[in-house]
Amino acid sequence: MTVTDRRGRHLGQALHSPKSEIRLRLLTAGREPVDAAWWRDHIAAAARRRADISATAYRVVHGEGDGLPSLVVDRYGPYVVAQLLSAGLEQRREDVLHGIDAALAPEGILLRNDTAVRRHEGLPLEIVPARGTVPDSVAVEESGVRYLAAPRTGQKTGAFLDQRENRILVGAHTGAGRALDLFTYHGSFALHLARRAAEVVAVDSSGDALARGRENAALNGLTNIAWREANAFDLLRELERRRETFDTVVLDPPAFAKSKESVVRALAGYKEINLRAMRLIAPGGILFTCSCSYHVGRGLFMDMLGDAARDARRRLELLAITGAGRDHPELLSVPETGYLKGALLRAVD
Ligand SMILES: C[S@@+](CC[C@H](N)C(=O)[O-])C[C@H]1O[C@@H](n2cnc3c(N)ncnc32)[C@H](O)[C@@H]1O
Repeated sequence: MTVTDRRGRHLGQALHSPKSEIRLRLLTAGREPVDAAWWRDHIAAAARRRADISATAYRVVHGEGDGLPSLVVDRYGPYVVAQLLSAGLEQRREDVLHGIDAALAPEGILLRNDTAVRRHEGLPLEIVPARGTVPDSVAVEESGVRYLAAPRTGQKTGAFLDQRENRILVGAHTGAGRALDLFTYHGSFALHLARRAAEVVAVDSSGDALARGRENAALNGLTNIAWREANAFDLLRELERRRETFDTVVLDPPAFAKSKESVVRALAGYKEINLRAMRLIAPGGILFTCSCSYHVGRGLFMDMLGDAARDARRRLELLAITGAGRDHPELLSVPETGYLKGALLRAVD
């Protein structure tokens, strides 16, 4: 819809969500027709910005980060998994699908419209095959590692694409000894660690994700990953009690703070797992730790890590502060486009 100020001056064109707290999402300040061709051109431009990504699964459209608020388009090889996350965008469903078709020519498009944010928009949660067929599992490749993504049943759109660059970074810093990947999902970090480490312990509470992890290890001919279905909080306590140590540890928990109100509790949870993980790192070893809670900003996250290091009595050198991969662009003026932050640390004692 066209948006004007009180005096009737043109402000732009926006998606309209009558039931949402976010009523308008600006698409353009211009007056051009926002039709299937508009969507095609904008999706194609987003795809061009990622032309040099050497992976077969990555995000093509990251909502507002790509100027297309409430639209997510993820590519899994020849297939596309998309999410329409606002009522305004739902009204443009056919134009968006035509746009994806025309810009990316996928063999199939699946709409993973089953995320809870749609409830705030008064929209149903559903998984809809929109074009062709998308298989239940798709083999993709990321810097020499192959893995099966699960577009229909997996978390997010089938994989955690936002950690792709971090997985490659941590893989490059992995030592030859033991490695621990906590909250591994289907082994995403573990597969990278296992190319260098002697043995990897990969931990998740989801049996389904771990089953795919085992398939992923086989797909890469890796036999040095032990898969453990466990609560990471309990396992960390157990490993600490047994005084086990690891040369590389990855901590990639789910978002502990789902709202502003839960930040204090979330920080206590983050501190607990980080403090215990820090105690497990062998001297000279590496910890990659992150948080995908939007409500826990970088500052809070880094302060929490500092507290945890002091309480764990470890000296940790900060090697890198990271975010999501560049296929998830973060706009300074739209803080919601950035939620993932990570720290790569080395134990210097
Ligand atoms: C952010 S995802 C991990 C993504 C993964 N590292 C990747 O790069 O694909 C968080 C994972 O934690 C798992 N999880 C949630 N609570 C857990 C817990 N208490 N203990 C172990 N795993 C848990 C979820 O099943 C999910 O796979």
